[in-house]
Amino acid sequence: MRTLVIGSGGREHALAIALARDPAVTEVHAAPGNPGIAAVATLHDVDPMDGAAVAGLATSVGADLVVVGPEAPLVAGVADAVLAAGIACFGPSREAARLEGSKAFSKEVMAAAGVPTAGSRTCTTAEEVAAALDAFGAPYVVKDDSLAAGKGVVVTSDRASALAHAAGCERVVVEEFLDGPEFSIFVVCDGAIGVPLVPAQDFKRIHDGGRGPNTGGMGSYAPLTWLPEGTVEDVMTRVVEPTLAEMRRRGAPFVGCLYVGLALTAAGPKVIEFNCRFGDPDIQPVLALLTSPLGALLSAAASGDLAAVPAPTFADGAAVTVVMASAGYPEGSSTGDVIVGTETLAREDDVDVVHAGTARTEAGLVTAGGRVLAVRATGTDVADARAKAYEGIASISFPGAQWRRDIAAEPLGVVEGATLLD
Ligand code: AMP
Ligand code: GLY
Repeated sequence: MRTLVIGSGGREHALAIALARDPAVTEVHAAPGNPGIAAVATLHDVDPMDGAAVAGLATSVGADLVVVGPEAPLVAGVADAVLAAGIACFGPSREAARLEGSKAFSKEVMAAAGVPTAGSRTCTTAEEVAAALDAFGAPYVVKDDSLAAGKGVVVTSDRASALAHAAGCERVVVEEFLDGPEFSIFVVCDGAIGVPLVPAQDFKRIHDGGRGPNTGGMGSYAPLTWLPEGTVEDVMTRVVEPTLAEMRRRGAPFVGCLYVGLALTAAGPKVIEFNCRFGDPDIQPVLALLTSPLGALLSAAASGDLAAVPAPTFADGAAVTVVMASAGYPEGSSTGDVIVGTETLAREDDVDVVHAGTARTEAGLVTAGGRVLAVRATGTDVADARAKAYEGIASISFPGAQWRRDIAAEPLGVVEGATLLD
C-alpha cells in the first residue's frame, strides 16, 4: 500500500512513523512534511490547502491512501478533491468537516442526535450574547463559530471580557460551563461505524499547573487509568453512534477521525467539542502504544469497510509526550534557533523525537514554529514513560526553549482546562 500524509506537524510525523511500521505499507509520502518526517517518508513540496495539487500528487505517486492530518485542508474540501480523483482518503469531506469548522453546526448536530453536551445558544448580536451570558451564568464560555486555530474560545468569570471576545467575532456560541477533567477519544470512522482508540489527555496551557494562555497542546499521555470503567463504551453509544447516524441522515457521512473532546462531569461525560481529525499532541502517545497496523485500519475506514478489520490493539503500559516550544510561544514564535541533541535520542528504543516546527538549514536543525518538537516515550506505566520522556528533554536544547515540567505528573485527571479560568 502506498500512502500519502498531508501536513507538517507532530501529528503527521507520528502518523508517518506508525504507517512506516505497518508491513503492508510499502511507501510513505508526505506533503509538505518536516525534517523528522523526511526520515520515514519521501517529501513533496505541495500546498496542503490546494485540493487539486494534493490530488495531483496522490495520482503521480500512485497513492492507494491519502491521510489528511490538519483541519484547515479538510474544512477547505481537500478530501473531496482526492476522492474525486478516485483515491481513497482518510479524512472527512468538506460537508462532514463542518463538525469542526462550525461550532454552531456541531451543536446543531449534537442536539439533533441527543448527544450529552453543554447547553448552548448561537448568537449574532451583542444583545443575544448578553442574554445568553445571563442565562447560563458565570463562568462564561464564548466560542467563535469558525475555525480560529485554537484561539476562538474564551472561558472567563469576567462578563466584560466575555462580551469583548464576542464583539470580535461574527457569530458566537455561548454555552454552559462544564466542570470536570477533560479527555479526548479518537474514533476512526468509516461513515457508518466508529472504532475508538485508547483515550488520551492533553495539557493545553503553556505553564505548569495549568497556568497561562491556551496553546495547541504542551504534552499528553495515554492511557487514562483514572477513567471509570465503561466510559469509552458509554461515549461510543451515547455520542459517536448517534452522531454518525445523524451525519448519514444529512447526506454527509463522516469518514476519518472523529475527535471527541469531553469533560467528565458529575453527570457523566459530556462533549466539549468535536474535531474532524486526530488531536496533536494527544494522538502521539496513542500511536506509540498501537500494536496493530495503522495502514490497514485507516484504509478500511476510508473505503467504508471498518467492520472487516480486527479492532486495533495496544501495548500494555503507557506513553507520554512532552512538547518543546520556541521562545515567544504561544503569542508568537522564534525561528532559526539551533537545536542540538536530537540525534542521540534516535538510537533509543522506547523514546523518539516527534518533529513539528523544525527546519534543516546550513546551520543544522533549527526552530521553525511555535511547537518545535516533542519527546515521546513508552514505559511500563505513566511514571516510567514520563521519566524517560523528561530524560530525553534534558538532552535536547535550543535558545529560548520552553516546556512544561508537569506533563502527566498527576495522572488522576484533574489537571486543568475546564476547571481553570483565564
Ligand atoms: P474548544 O476549542 O472547544 O476545545 O475549547 C478550548 C478549551 O476551552 C477546551 O479545551 C476547554 O478547556 C475549554 N472549554 C470549551 N468549552 C467549554 C465548556 N463548555 N466548559 C468548560 N470549558 C470549556
Ligand atoms: N490538542 C488539541 C487539538 O489537537 O486540537
